[in-house]
Amino acid sequence: MLIAYTREVSPRLADCELTHLERQPLDVAGARAEHAVYESVLERLGARVRRLPSTPQLPDGVFVEDAAVVLDDVAVITRPGAPSRQPETASVEAVLAAHRPVIHVRAPATLDGGDVLVAGRRIYIGLSTRTTRGAIQQLIDQLAPYGHEVVPLAFTGCLHLKSAVTRVADDLVLLNPAWVAADAFTGHRALAVDPAEPHAANALALGGAVIHPLQHARTRARLQSAGLTVVTVPQVELAKAEAGVTCCSLLVETS
Ligand code: GLY
Repeated sequence: MLIAYTREVSPRLADCELTHLERQPLDVAGARAEHAVYESVLERLGARVRRLPSTPQLPDGVFVEDAAVVLDDVAVITRPGAPSRQPETASVEAVLAAHRPVIHVRAPATLDGGDVLVAGRRIYIGLSTRTTRGAIQQLIDQLAPYGHEVVPLAFTGCLHLKSAVTRVADDLVLLNPAWVAADAFTGHRALAVDPAEPHAANALALGGAVIHPLQHARTRARLQSAGLTVVTVPQVELAKAEAGVTCCSLLVETS
């Protein structure tokens, strides 16, 4: 069974952290409606959606991906790079501890799950304003006994590594080549986003399809031409909070 953990959109979403975007008026009701569509798509593609405890006081709490990295055999509880986000991890750890042994990123290091791209036993971790070299070294050391290889990666131009690149099939990454090197991903072909859609590289592969924001039609056409089935979700209000489709769920395969 595949569980998708999500979290309700906070009434304080408009106070979220922003790094590369200007703050704009944000309609929380609209963001909630978008999130509801996203959850229904997760269900339609075969996941069982379970909500984590609400954290109405934490503006970015809906972006659950940043609080943990769930691997087949272990879960990493992160220490988010924005201090306002560090209280998000406790409720995530309480839930994930029922599924996996957990390890932790320890202070002073910080790491956001959005900077972690898992490709089988190889784990790419982007160096960002949120994720430190110290955190990457901690994961190199702690994940080696589990047989995971950690590969640090430089990128530029966006908040998280997975804003620049995501894995859309076993051998294919979708990426913005202006933000991350297209040849960095061993064993993968690279499909570039349309140059007019720099923010279109964040996609979520699930259930034989790829979830992708509705507004990126040109990149959607490229995904479809590559033979992928694309399921679109609205992401206008959530995008104002620097969201992606990967960051609104934590996927856990259970037996
Ligand atoms: N608003 C998403 C983040 O900055 O973490």
